[in-house]
Amino acid sequence: MRLLVTGSRGQLGRALERAAPSLGHDFAGYDLPELDITDAAAVHAVVRGAKPDAVINCAAFTAVDAAETEAERALAVNGTAVAGLAAAADAVGALLVQISTDYVFDGTSRRPYREDDPVNPQSVYGKTKFAGERAAAAARRHLVARTAWLFGEGANFVAAIRRQIEAGASTLRVVGDQRGCPTYAEDLAGALLRLLELGAEGTVHAVNAGEASWFEFAGEIVRRVGADVTVIPIATAEAARPAPRPARAILDTGRLQALLGGGLRPWQEALGEYLRLGA
Ligand SMILES: NC(=O)c1ccc[n+]([C@@H]2O[C@H](COP(=O)([O-])OP(=O)(O)OC[C@H]3O[C@@H](n4cnc5c(N)ncnc54)[C@H](OP(=O)(O)O)[C@@H]3O)[C@@H](O)[C@H]2O)c1
Repeated sequence: MRLLVTGSRGQLGRALERAAPSLGHDFAGYDLPELDITDAAAVHAVVRGAKPDAVINCAAFTAVDAAETEAERALAVNGTAVAGLAAAADAVGALLVQISTDYVFDGTSRRPYREDDPVNPQSVYGKTKFAGERAAAAARRHLVARTAWLFGEGANFVAAIRRQIEAGASTLRVVGDQRGCPTYAEDLAGALLRLLELGAEGTVHAVNAGEASWFEFAGEIVRRVGADVTVIPIATAEAARPAPRPARAILDTGRLQALLGGGLRPWQEALGEYLRLGA
């Protein structure tokens, strides 16, 4: 398959670039500054030129707190630009793959969220990502993959915790009352490529198995790197972050498991591999 990937130098884009050739796919990656997805004319020109089988949009305004004060830019990148990608994909008969987030949910459900559960985003980021889902759904052929708490090559929670450990921190205060599904970008990339090969469309939740609070996630990182650091749980209110976050956004992966004949491995195992590779 010929894959055109936007946001190709982000965590997921880089993982797709590594995974695609070994599975026999051609990878053409674009990121800022060479392609700004908010430039619809440029998007059309690039997509028409490449004639891909699938456009995988990994580009996003991912700074969840900054989005609260940069709502216009966040909507332009996460929402409006996806309409341009959908039109461009339709023009060449390509599938549009849009990556979305657990933050489209409000986190009040007592059970894991299924793909067709009602969304209720609380943050500007979540609202703009849901706008992106709707824009992607206008494409004749689309796959919306919701994921969560990504770690891969680039800036992420694991890298931030490691940086603090390496800087000599003896205690880390980490939010204990938000739960989610840590997910390894390499595992997500592999799953996406298999979904493409299967011709999957619609919405699918794609996260590693298991769940954690940020506090538990940090504890596992500390344990695996063998650091002498005490992790202390704090409340969301104490962290005083600008954007509201879901308290418990666990994604049900039943559809992914049915499509792939099994789900992704537990996040702890994936974390171990990520740390061993020293990313
Ligand atoms: N990271 C997470 O925890 C998480 C959780 C759930 C869902 N997701 C979703 O998963 C997808 C991939 O996330 P990620 O962690 O790989 O993101 P990332 O590492 O932040 O990468 C996003 C990439 O998109 C680029 N980009 C930003 N604005 C752009 C624009 N206007 N045109 C073209 N490229 C642009 C960024 O460039 P700059 O760095 O120069 O801005 C960056 O290279 C995103 O859709 C995100 O919303 C992520």
